[in-house]
Amino acid sequence: MILVTGAGGTVGSALLEELKSSGHRPRVAHRSRDKAERARAAGDDAVILDFARPETLGPALEGVDAVFLLGAGGLGQVEGEIAVVDAARAAGAKKIVKLSAWNAAGEAYSFAKLHRSIERAVESSGLAFTLLRPNGFMQNFVNFMAGSIKAQGAFYQPAGDARISHIDVRDIARVAARALTTSGHDGKAYELSGPRAISYGEAAEILSGVLGKRVSYVAVSDDAARAGMVAGGMPEFYADHVIDLNRHYRTGAGSAVSTAVKDVTGRAPVSFEEFARDHAGALAGALG
Ligand SMILES: NC(=O)c1ccc[n+]([C@@H]2O[C@H](COP(=O)([O-])OP(=O)(O)OC[C@H]3O[C@@H](n4cnc5c(N)ncnc54)[C@H](OP(=O)(O)O)[C@@H]3O)[C@@H](O)[C@H]2O)c1
Repeated sequence: MILVTGAGGTVGSALLEELKSSGHRPRVAHRSRDKAERARAAGDDAVILDFARPETLGPALEGVDAVFLLGAGGLGQVEGEIAVVDAARAAGAKKIVKLSAWNAAGEAYSFAKLHRSIERAVESSGLAFTLLRPNGFMQNFVNFMAGSIKAQGAFYQPAGDARISHIDVRDIARVAARALTTSGHDGKAYELSGPRAISYGEAAEILSGVLGKRVSYVAVSDDAARAGMVAGGMPEFYADHVIDLNRHYRTGAGSAVSTAVKDVTGRAPVSFEEFARDHAGALAGALG
C-alpha cells in the first residue's frame, strides 16, 4: 500500500493521477476532513492526516508500505514531516519517498536548509528512502503568477536575469511514481530539472508566443517583492524564504540541468513551451 501525503496539492494530485493511470490504488491523505470525504465519495481510499495532529498519523499509516512525504510550506513543516517519518517507522512502513528541494544538500538558502533537516531524519530512519529535489515548478506560473499575467500581461519576480531550469510537476510525479513502485531507487537523491534553463525574460517571450499576446517580465527588488507578497497575504517568514531562494537563483545556482527525469522515467522532461501550451487556458485570461 502506498500512502500519498499532500494529496490535494500541486504535486500530490499529479502523483495520484500518475499512480492511478498505471493501475495502482494509493491511499490518499488529506489534512482537511472535507477533502477526505469528497475523495472517499469519489472512490478513493482516503484518510485524514494532519502533521500537526499526532493522533491522525498512526491510523493513516496502518498497513502502509511506502510513503510519499510532502510537507506544505507552513510553520512547523520540519517537525510535521519528521513526525510522519517516525510514525511510518512505528507503523512498519518500508520506504519513504521525500519531496525536497533543488540543491538541498548545499543548504545555501532557507528552503534548502529546511528540507535538508528533514532529509537527515529520513536518512537516519532505517527505512529505505529516495529524495526528490526539484527545481522551481513550472506550475508556479499558474498558481502564483497567472493573476497578474491575466490582469496586466506581466509577472513580477526578484530574480534579475537568473536562468532557472524549471520543472513541470508532471515530471516530478512520474519520477515519484517510479521511486514508489519500482526497484533501484533506494538511497538515491535525484536533482530534478526541466530540459533547459531559461530566464524569466525568456519565459515571458515563450508565453507571449504561445498565448498570442504580449506578456512581460518585470524584475523587481527584494523589498518590492517582499512588500507585494505580504500585502497579498503571504506570511512574512515565507516571503523571506522566497526572497532568499531568488537570491540563490541570482548566483546562477538554479541554472544547472539534470538528466534525472530522463534517466528514471525514460522520457525527456516537459519543456516550458509544452507546459505553456498545456496551460494556455489558465494563463491567457483576458489579455488585450
Ligand atoms: N513551488 C516550487 O517551485 C517548489 C520547488 C521545490 C520544492 N517545493 C516544495 O514542494 C512542497 C509543496 O508542494 P505543493 O506545491 O504540491 O504543495 P501545495 O499545492 O501547497 O499542497 C500542499 C498540500 O499539503 C497538505 N497540507 C497542508 N498542511 C498540512 C498539514 N498540516 N498536514 C498534512 N497535510 C497538509 C494540503 O492538504 P489539504 O489539501 O488537505 O489542505 C495540500 O494537499 C513544499 O515542501 C515546497 O518546499 C516547491
